[in-house]
Amino acid sequence: MRVGVFDSGVGGLTVLKAIREKFPRIDLFYLGDTARVPYGTKSPDTVIRYSVECAEFLSEKSVDVLVVACNTASSYALETLTSMLTIPVLGVVEPGVRKALSLTKGRVGVIGTSATIRSEAYQHRLREAGVEVFSKACPLFVPLVEEGLVEGDITERVVEFYLKEFREKGIDTLILGCTHYPLLKNTIKNFLKGTEVVDSSDAVAEELSSLVEDEGQGAIELFFTDRSQNLEGLIELILGDRLKPEILSDWTHRV
Ligand code: DGL
Repeated sequence: MRVGVFDSGVGGLTVLKAIREKFPRIDLFYLGDTARVPYGTKSPDTVIRYSVECAEFLSEKSVDVLVVACNTASSYALETLTSMLTIPVLGVVEPGVRKALSLTKGRVGVIGTSATIRSEAYQHRLREAGVEVFSKACPLFVPLVEEGLVEGDITERVVEFYLKEFREKGIDTLILGCTHYPLLKNTIKNFLKGTEVVDSSDAVAEELSSLVEDEGQGAIELFFTDRSQNLEGLIELILGDRLKPEILSDWTHRV
């Protein structure tokens, strides 16, 4: 089986990694739109237009399923992509919401980019299910991760700055509604002790089970729209030791 995954940049590799861990044999094609990242500050129309172009690129790779790893793209473009393609399209919002609903006692926090939070995609689905929802855009988290600052003093201060209100609100579950946030999971968990933390990358990999069989060569091809600064460093930070570029069956930059 061939699965396509796209994101606004490198962060969606957290989703690719979770999928690879669950499905070692399927063939994975990843497109990171590094030339146009971030999507989280763009208008809905622009996010939709960029998402359509990413989906078209991956369709040419004859993928059987398309995973929209980017939360911002999932929040705005899922309907357009679903009606445009004949293959199943899986975004990160629904799996994250379902996972949160299976864990919560009724008070859920959601964090994401400004665009994701503004779209109300998560909040709307959670409210529909009858839980109390508290949301917050955390725009400094993406650059922190991109600088490799996933723990330490500065990271703890920024986590406290954004998340202290969730402590006051007494949430029991927090959805990490952005590709980069799983890398801050330890710091976030330390700050919000006792809170269930939902990582949408794991949630997507779980939901993919109903759409794919674990068959194929286990290949990974990575494509990027720009060979931006620190691309390799970020890829290594996210994919870690187990998935170093040299063990990838193909390693391609589309610049
Ligand atoms: N991939 C984006 C998301 O998950 C974060 C980075 C961006 O703003 O493009 O929302």
